[in-house]
Amino acid sequence: MGGQSLPGPGPPPRTARSPRSKGPRGAPLYSGRMAGPIDLRSDTVTKPTPAMRRAMAEAEVGDDWYGDDPTVNRLEERCAEVTGKEGTVYVATGTMAKQIAVHVFARPGHFVAAETTAHVATTEVSTSAILSGIAFHRVAGERGLLTADQVAAALEPDPYGVQVVDLLEIENTHQVGGGSVLPIDDLRAIRKVAQEAGVPVYMDGARIFNASIASGTPVEDYAAEVDAVMFCLSKGLGAPIGSVLCGPADFVAEARRTKILIGGAWRQAGIMAAAGLIALDEGPKRLAEDHANARRLAEGLAEAAPGAVDAGHIETNIVFADVAAVGLQPFDVLQRLNDAGVLVNIVAGKVRFLTHRDVAAGDVERVIPVWRQVLDNARMEGGGREGT
Ligand SMILES: Cc1ncc(COP(=O)(O)O)c(C=O)c1O
Repeated sequence: MGGQSLPGPGPPPRTARSPRSKGPRGAPLYSGRMAGPIDLRSDTVTKPTPAMRRAMAEAEVGDDWYGDDPTVNRLEERCAEVTGKEGTVYVATGTMAKQIAVHVFARPGHFVAAETTAHVATTEVSTSAILSGIAFHRVAGERGLLTADQVAAALEPDPYGVQVVDLLEIENTHQVGGGSVLPIDDLRAIRKVAQEAGVPVYMDGARIFNASIASGTPVEDYAAEVDAVMFCLSKGLGAPIGSVLCGPADFVAEARRTKILIGGAWRQAGIMAAAGLIALDEGPKRLAEDHANARRLAEGLAEAAPGAVDAGHIETNIVFADVAAVGLQPFDVLQRLNDAGVLVNIVAGKVRFLTHRDVAAGDVERVIPVWRQVLDNARMEGGGREGT
């Protein structure tokens, strides 16, 4: 390969730019001074707290491959307790946790049923194809949420026995659905039809604590209705790195083996697990604040762009703005916001804002006038640089 670059689109464009007080065409973007960029790209961008940094520096460690890292083991035991599952595997990312689950539950050439816009069936679609050789049976849900009737139809056996669904995947909260929360009664109904069809249920609970805080349903109750659940310590809970996969003992044994096979044994990972333990204890306590900030943000965004933001549906920490619906170009709006020191993301063609520990209520109040000014400028310049 010697120095040759591989074909393909390359890494995503870097969005973190130093804030400017002028738009690209010289129009003022906002009147007040921004102290620094406000990073709403994801809830993964939080920096470790001083307590986390101390715990990481002092962590007792072993070797995770051999299963003797005491801090990893403590974290795994705590996660098993919190979810009420027999065991837990601690891994680097939510993607790795999910791919291990898919690999353990589903056979190559078989199907995994999932909501059309689920992370596993979109961002990770080729990962699942490469690592597990599966295909997706997609079902479109309202704001990402499936009903028991939809699941029953999806799991109806193929009369020719060719298309076999090995696993049902449920995402809660549903990211592209706008951080929507699956009510526990709906999950129970889904679980019932899956059991009748003999299909295990796996939950992508990357943000299950957000779902729990928003709905008042304990994480353990959600976990009781699925065979295995993954959650991320590195999202709303605020750890720098790490996700966990929780399930019954035989599943966990197979998941642990798969983790090693795909190169996921991470030796003195207790350094990270030490921060993960703090995230698990402290993180859930402040998620309601993120949710309140997201609601306030959505209201402010909606005022300047009615028709782009559905403020009434904000349940957790995710806000989408469909700027195309009001005649603007998503990437143009993203660029203008970034230039003004408000970092956002584009997901599923919409501008996405996520609140998290490092975004305060005051930051939200600073974002709203920037947004208004950005939209005014984009409109003034003709609907946003169409065709560029
Ligand atoms: C719903 C959901 N599942 C899984 C993941 C993957 O997590 P990670 O980025 O840790 O691989 C993400 C990432 O944003 C997500 O939003």
